[in-house]
Amino acid sequence: MRTIKIFDTTLRDGEQSPGCSMNLQEKLEVAARLEALRADVIEAGFAVSSPDDFEAVKTIAQTVKNCSVASLTRAIARDIDRTWEALKHAKDPCIHLFLATSPVHMEYKLKMPPEKVLERAVETVRHASGLCPNIEFSAEDATRSDWDFLAKVFSGVIAAGATTINVPDTVGYTTPHEMAELIAYLKERVEGIERVGLSVHCHNDLGMAVANTLAAVKAGATQAECTINGIGERAGNAALEEIALALHTKKEYFGAVTNIDTRQIYRSSRALSSIIGMPLAATKPIVGANAFAHEAGIHQHGVLANRSTYEIMRPEDIGIPSNKIVLGKHSGRHAFEDRLNSLGFSLSKEDVESAFAQFKMLADRKKVVSDDDIIALISDKSLEIENGYQCVRFVVNSGSTIPAMAAVKLKKDDVEKEDSSTGDGPIDAVFNAIDRIVDRHYTLLDYSIRSVTEGEDALGEAIVKLGRGNEIVTGRGLSTDIIEASVKAYLSGVNKLAMKSAATEV
Ligand code: KIV
Ligand code: ZN
Repeated sequence: MRTIKIFDTTLRDGEQSPGCSMNLQEKLEVAARLEALRADVIEAGFAVSSPDDFEAVKTIAQTVKNCSVASLTRAIARDIDRTWEALKHAKDPCIHLFLATSPVHMEYKLKMPPEKVLERAVETVRHASGLCPNIEFSAEDATRSDWDFLAKVFSGVIAAGATTINVPDTVGYTTPHEMAELIAYLKERVEGIERVGLSVHCHNDLGMAVANTLAAVKAGATQAECTINGIGERAGNAALEEIALALHTKKEYFGAVTNIDTRQIYRSSRALSSIIGMPLAATKPIVGANAFAHEAGIHQHGVLANRSTYEIMRPEDIGIPSNKIVLGKHSGRHAFEDRLNSLGFSLSKEDVESAFAQFKMLADRKKVVSDDDIIALISDKSLEIENGYQCVRFVVNSGSTIPAMAAVKLKKDDVEKEDSSTGDGPIDAVFNAIDRIVDRHYTLLDYSIRSVTEGEDALGEAIVKLGRGNEIVTGRGLSTDIIEASVKAYLSGVNKLAMKSAATEV
């Protein structure tokens, strides 16, 4: 069996797509999830693209211990040097250079003839390999490039020190059959290819990103680039969970496996979806709400008789909680800690204490606390901003014949402030009251509420997207009361924006 490396780019290709931006704390949370998933490489960002990205790459490089950490860079010597500054303290750093090789990109974007592109690729890879032992070279828009030219560029960069060559289907244009042919061609024509990693990076514009990736793996690729939940530019990138489960489920066919701990998939997917405020379609393979639901009677009958009639994967293989022992207000710290362990969380003593306090509060309001509630609670806790505004209390009055009215009291640095406002409904009224207290106006770009679990007393998760100037952030709040969840979500957005403007003022 070959072991296919998983190169995750959730924090770079994923994060750079609209609506998916994350702050440093959120990126660290995702990096921790990727480490728990046992991804081989975490692409932490595009260090030179902004000071925030530089800081994020540097911090992740210093924090992550069990995966290689990569940063993307343009094939320009000064960008490579700066990228190395961000990466150099990583345990296993990787500089990821890219340069386009397709006729349309070379002519209209780079405005460089092919010979110059080849020269630049070789020179910059040579420069980078003088700094870092791992160099990945991506031929951007490889699938629309001339194959012969592509082979020349890859041969050149391998001779110059590249340790992995990457074949991006940048615009999601290829098909599985074409991808397999291209990989076979490169394996035959690229000099030194047997000494380096052969990677693929597929976008999903025609809905074939995962199929193309798997076709490449079958044809001999040794690394797959992907993102959690398939987030990424336009229609996204190949989804990590789909690649990992396809290889897990059909290892004999592919003759290949990954190092991914599949039991971490469900939690990681949920955590990312909450962090960026992007819910998953119920039919999303592997992690969608319906992925393991059997509605049709004939299917239910089959599954009850023997699961393998309609199930090719087991929910527990991706970490979908199956524990039937429920926790409630009489459950003690021991049972709670046990459940945290079985869900794969390893928290410090203080974090267990504070999570337990939250669990007790929730158990007072809810008859039964499910594993999904606990996962939501812990993900919420790990993203709280200390020293921000906290809600002390709120009162809302609304009805079909009166304008909605809200009074809110907030606390920050031990100072309490209260104000009230009307609004177009109770949620708008509380948001307006908060704006008055913090003396700012935010644009509410999106708002949604969903229940984390089923039942009348379900935990609700509110997600807001707040804008101010050029900044857009996602705020999230959890409660069994939807107005309280909304207040928490709005405040989490307000606190994030305040943190951002404090950082720019420094
Ligand atoms: O899609 C793409 O071509 C990329 C490269 C920079 C790897 O993201
Ligand atoms: Zn990409």
